[in-house]
Amino acid sequence: MTNPNVEAWTEENAEYTDGRAEQAWARDEITYGIWDVPESELHALPDLAGKDVVELGCGTAYFGAWLKKAGAARVVGVDPTPAQLETARRCNEKFGLGLEFVEAFGEDVPLPDDAFDLAVSEYGASIWADPYKWIPEAARLLRDGGELVFLRNSTLVILCSPDEDVAAVETLQRPQFGMHRFQWPDGGGAVEYHLSHGDWIRLLRANGFEILDLIEIQAPADAETHDHYAYVTADWARKWPSEEIWRARLHRPSS
Ligand SMILES: C[S@@+](CC[C@H](N)C(=O)[O-])C[C@H]1O[C@@H](n2cnc3c(N)ncnc32)[C@H](O)[C@@H]1O
Repeated sequence: MTNPNVEAWTEENAEYTDGRAEQAWARDEITYGIWDVPESELHALPDLAGKDVVELGCGTAYFGAWLKKAGAARVVGVDPTPAQLETARRCNEKFGLGLEFVEAFGEDVPLPDDAFDLAVSEYGASIWADPYKWIPEAARLLRDGGELVFLRNSTLVILCSPDEDVAAVETLQRPQFGMHRFQWPDGGGAVEYHLSHGDWIRLLRANGFEILDLIEIQAPADAETHDHYAYVTADWARKWPSEEIWRARLHRPSS
């Protein structure tokens, strides 16, 4: 059975023939999103030394590679798109970082309970999987006290976006109430998931997470609008957050 997101990411993968994944794997610094804001400024992650990490929607896994280089003991990348995992495996071989990979959707991960200290998603499950299914999976996979860190488009930029790859405007383009499943008119059938902040808070708390931070990313003063990420201009993102990072800690009830 084909899945529209797997189809979209198989096509996207075929377009990256310019060594982009290798270039990202070669970098050491952890940065976030389209404005490349460094972890040293945002402090979104816990200490990684010795941590077991699962990345949900790992794609080509450059983000997981950075976490391994920063001291994580084990990084397991989960993604449903075979072509993306093939690129990730090729890079892993080349850079010898010893990541592990599992082909699966973030909504249903064939890995054991209580197996990880940190679950991350950098534009993976965080926008491409149904949050009402992947957040419970993240909670199941984490050990008590483990953390969940995910990067997504801000709710505000989604509200202000006329269409996929059309720059966000300064007026609201859609209702916030009822946000959940999105298919952009020009999105080729791919399905994204976006929630309001209130719904994120309720969902995280219902799954045992304490919210530690919500980091709203501001484009730096010298940032320029990307050709590839045309959905927001640098000027817009200097005034309003176009991306956000949620950080939460799991408190598993004692049985
Ligand atoms: C932007 S890429 C992630 C980038 C990644 N952080 C990296 O380091 O390369 C988005 C990924 O989400 C994956 N994806 C799509 N649907 C998904 C789902 N339901 N659960 C988890 N991942 C999904 C796609 O296959 C794609 O590889």
